[in-house]
Amino acid sequence: MIVAPSVLSLDYSRMKEQVDELNASKAEWMHFDVMDGHFVPNLTFGPDILKGFCKMSPLVKDVHLMVSDPFFFSDVFARAGADYITFHAEALDNDDRSIRDLCDHIHSLGCKAGISVKPFTRIDAVRPFLKQFDLFLVMSVEPGFGGQAFLPASIAKIETLRHWLDNAHPEALIEVDGGINEHTGKLCRDAGADVLVAGSYVFKNDIQKAVESLCL
Ligand code: DX5
Ligand code: ZN
Repeated sequence: MIVAPSVLSLDYSRMKEQVDELNASKAEWMHFDVMDGHFVPNLTFGPDILKGFCKMSPLVKDVHLMVSDPFFFSDVFARAGADYITFHAEALDNDDRSIRDLCDHIHSLGCKAGISVKPFTRIDAVRPFLKQFDLFLVMSVEPGFGGQAFLPASIAKIETLRHWLDNAHPEALIEVDGGINEHTGKLCRDAGADVLVAGSYVFKNDIQKAVESLCL
């Protein structure tokens, strides 16, 4: 299991100390929630923050774009050091052509591409793109804020995706984001998830132990 702590929940008054702990933990990825105050009612990081994290940590940089203009922000965050860039199908009104174009564009920037759906968007929205994307992100809370409770309906989405991908694109990764703790993380793993994003659970507990409990 790949664990991707979300630095949305990091204590920025103890940034260096907490990033050092992440570096010493079993986390392989670091998750960046980019919010534009428009696609979601919250505002977070610009590219200079990502550049700073790139200097502080060798972890894979997993950028989750919760923005209305993912074409613009893909360029910005690819230049800043993103390894994975994931955008929301809803931001492009689930338009097939635009989704394929942006996926190709992200690949042309040298990054892996991910597609995400919100909790109340059917998982069928990503079915036309199974072969094209490297990562499929199932949102298990409404995007915008950390600290929300895991939505149990996410489990069926993960199982469906796993089934589709086992046939169409077994190397693609299924990531789950929102309300992940030791208990919900296990449910996601059993359903077929490969990557667990966790914010509050990691940063409000002993960082190394919390990460380890999700690695199982
Ligand atoms: C929500 C974000 C999540 C969030 C997860 O919009 O995409 O990545 O940080 O936080 P927790 O683990 O606290 O639910
Ligand atoms: Zn996220």
